[in-house]
This record gives sequence, structure tokens and C-alpha cells, in this order.
Amino acid sequence: MLISINMSKNFKALEFSTIINNTLHERGLLLASIGEEGSANVMTIGWGHIGVLWRKPFFIAYIRHSRYSHSLIEQVGDFTVNVPPNDFENVLEFCGTKSGRYVDKIKELGLKTKRSTNVRSPSLSECLINLECKVVFKKEIEEKDVPLNDRSKFYPNDDYHTCYFAEIVGFDLRDTR
Ligand SMILES: Cc1cc2nc3c(=O)[nH]c(=O)nc-3n(C[C@H](O)[C@H](O)[C@H](O)COP(=O)(O)O)c2cc1C
Repeated sequence: MLISINMSKNFKALEFSTIINNTLHERGLLLASIGEEGSANVMTIGWGHIGVLWRKPFFIAYIRHSRYSHSLIEQVGDFTVNVPPNDFENVLEFCGTKSGRYVDKIKELGLKTKRSTNVRSPSLSECLINLECKVVFKKEIEEKDVPLNDRSKFYPNDDYHTCYFAEIVGFDLRDTR
């Protein structure tokens, strides 16, 4: 019984798939991750999907090898996906252009984080929706997979994406009342 209650709560994330997908391609979402030693990072993502696999809610993120976030997800195996409020344009810009390798973006921007319930990566308190995502498996995009025209357009430096297939194991909506 408890399992079905948990399942239905996480499936609630799918009710918000339209806003999640629209925000992804119109403005970007914020992906937060954490390293083994506890340092958290936030990056902007514009590619991804929310959907269903094996009767479980899943989020798929596409992260290039060069990203600092890539190394953190490799270490800990989870991340959160956060839907930014309207006034987060500067946050999306900053987190989409600066690397956590060189700057503590959370500190620099004064972002408020909260402990996630089911993953180690933190959630962003000011965001409208938090998805807690646990990586189940990953696939590498290789040169042979990419249509010829898109190779030179998206991979001029061979900086390919890892596709992280992650189960949504926690879901939170900001109380805006
Ligand atoms: C709107 C937008 C969408 C982006 N989407 C992605 C994405 O889906 N995957 C990716 O690897 N990088 C994406 N980026 C680039 C990263 O956010 C950027 O390289 C960032 O500095 C990486 O941070 P990190 O090195 O701290 O992980 C996007 C940038 C912007 C501005």
C-alpha cells in the first residue's frame, strides 16, 4: 500500500510535463548535483524529457562530458531538476555560461537550497517544481548516432553528451499561497 502511495506521488510530476517541457526549450531548467565531498553545483539544461519507463516516472538529461556537473553526476549518481520562477533569467544565464569548476554558483548568486528527500543532490528552494532524479542507467551519444548535418553543428569539438536515464524518486511543488 505504501509503495502505491509513493508511486502516485512521484507520478504527479507527469501532470506538470507540459510546463517542464515548455520551460526546457523556452528558458531552460536548472539541474543541481553534488560531489562525493559535498560541494553542490547548478547548471542550466535545455535538452531533456520527462516520461515513463518500466511503469516509473523518468527524466532523461543530456550532459556533455566537459561539464563539471557531468563529473558530479558520475560520482554520486543523482541530480535534481528544478523549474525556475519567472525572475530567474539572470540565474539561468549565469548557470548556463559559468562552470562550477571555477566559480561557486550557489554562493555567487545567493541561491537557496534545501535538502532533498530521496537523493543526495540538493533542491533549489525558490524553484516552482523540484524533481529528485536517481540515475538508473546511462548511454553515450557517439559520432555514428548523430545525423551528419548535426555533427558539425553540435559537436565540432567531439564533446558528446551522456544521456542519463533517471527515475523521478521525489517530487516537490513550491507552495505559492
Ligand atoms: C539555455 C541553456 C541550455 C543548456 N542546455 C544544456 C544541456 O542540456 N546540456 C549540457 O551539457 N549543457 C547545456 N548548457 C550549457 C551548460 O549549462 C553550461 O556549459 C554550464 O556552464 C555548465 O556548468 P558546469 O560546468 O558547472 O556543469 C545549456 C546552456 C544554456 C544557456
